Amino acid sequence: MTDVTDEWRGWREAVQAALYGDEGFYRRPEGPAGHFRTSVHASPLFAAAVARLLAGIARELDTGTIALVDVGAGRGELLTGVLAALPEGLEVVPYAVEVAARPPGLDPRIEWCAEPPAGITGLLFANEWLDNVPAEVAEADADGVPRYVRVRTSDGAERLGDPVAGADAAWLERWWPLSEPGERAEIGRPRDAAWARAAGCVAAGLAVAVDYAHVRGARPPFGTLTGFRGGREVRPVPDGSRDLTAHVALDACAAAVPYARAELTDQRTMLRRLGVGGDRPPLSLAATDPAGYLSALAAAGEAAELTARGGLGDFGWLLHRVGLPDHG
Ligand SMILES: C[S@@+](CC[C@H](N)C(=O)[O-])C[C@H]1O[C@@H](n2cnc3c(N)ncnc32)[C@H](O)[C@@H]1O
Repeated sequence: MTDVTDEWRGWREAVQAALYGDEGFYRRPEGPAGHFRTSVHASPLFAAAVARLLAGIARELDTGTIALVDVGAGRGELLTGVLAALPEGLEVVPYAVEVAARPPGLDPRIEWCAEPPAGITGLLFANEWLDNVPAEVAEADADGVPRYVRVRTSDGAERLGDPVAGADAAWLERWWPLSEPGERAEIGRPRDAAWARAAGCVAAGLAVAVDYAHVRGARPPFGTLTGFRGGREVRPVPDGSRDLTAHVALDACAAAVPYARAELTDQRTMLRRLGVGGDRPPLSLAATDPAGYLSALAAAGEAAELTARGGLGDFGWLLHRVGLPDHG
């Protein structure tokens, strides 16, 4: 019989096992796309925008060969899309950084690795990675004291543990103070560290994290930890059967890379800047070029989804320019 006390763990350890353990959710053959849609799956316009971002960096660096590192690459969908959308004359060295195994049939140009290569010149891009980096959950008790939340693996039941202490307490104080009984926070320290490590692999170019995000002053009072399975939001139970995710304190991640100028904006703004607009084609085109009209209409619908308020358009984009001039 299982020792019942062993079933209760902090959320960080529980999520680590549930997502990335030997039988973990992200090791499953269907991959993330089997359970939820990211911007990458929503439309090829997203990969085309990343290709334009990459081309812009190549121009700034005045090089014709550039690296693209996709951290948390899923099944390599974004890299595949970018390779299909590259402008003439730009040579890209693509790396997929992933916990899961390389999928069969992937473009052989894509190198599959467990860690980002060090010292790259180019673009490091992480779409919906940091929300899956396991973090402790804290909850303020009846006296307003933040305590670690412990979770039972089998059913997701929770109870409060020790008071949050040390570096975790300092993180909460700086980034996500809790005071009222029942308020909750995800302690983003492991995300800050993961982002600092990844961004540190860029010797020259750009590091970009794109995710569900919040910033100090507008944190969700009860946190955002939740689950996804089969396209639906479900209770967060750390039993390996579902995705477990929590929005990212992207302002804290930004501060973890102090040497590189940071810009924090939203996907709507960034994609517009990269030429993804939601404008419908003129009706007159329907008469002169019906097929062109229909495909422009479909693209406008996809662009609208990628930039929608209350949806993907609200995603945070954190950009660090490394060794590039301050403009641009
Ligand atoms: C939500 S999925 C996003 C997939 C893809 N970027 C997209 O936008 O469709 C998160 C991915 O990050 C991967 N991942 C999480 N932590 C990782 C780590 N430390 N190193 C490499 N991959 C990781 C997971 O296995 C999963 O495939």
